[in-house]
Amino acid sequence: MRVLFVCLGNICRSPTAEGVMRSLLARDGESGIEVDSAGTGGWHVGEAPDARATEAARRRGIRLEGQARQVSQRDFAEFDLILAMDGSNQHALRQLAPDEHCHMKVKLLREFDPASAEAQNLDVPDPYYGGPAGFDDVLDLVQAACEGLLEHIRSLQTA
Ligand code: 4NP
Repeated sequence: MRVLFVCLGNICRSPTAEGVMRSLLARDGESGIEVDSAGTGGWHVGEAPDARATEAARRRGIRLEGQARQVSQRDFAEFDLILAMDGSNQHALRQLAPDEHCHMKVKLLREFDPASAEAQNLDVPDPYYGGPAGFDDVLDLVQAACEGLLEHIRSLQTA
């Protein structure tokens, strides 16, 4: 099972989701799940994760790594699930999807958070232009959703 997390710049939210998921997989000794992240935009390609995101994650014992890259059509062949951080990212991904099967791989990350089932808005808000608290909010939302995502994948693996 290969999972790609996608936001706009691939320096704040999606590297956070990738780092959170890697830490959950390490905690559980999970195998058979690969994760990566990308951005719908290309402005930050090659950059490390945003220092504010890295610091907020570090305080929770989570390491953010990697270099930003832009999502491409090839990702639709290589990943089973393509998880957007917000509705705008989801729209951009669906525009890029080469066919209906690939279109269906695109979901919002927070669809997997059972506590958000009743929520009207399933966006992980963009923290880039806000204050440091926004990065903790991202972590709260992403940690809850990634726990749910892991449960979902496990249920598929044992089915
Ligand atoms: P991300 O945050 O999509 O969570 O990585 C952003 C990073 C950069 C920009 C916007 C959002 N930007 O406009 O450069």
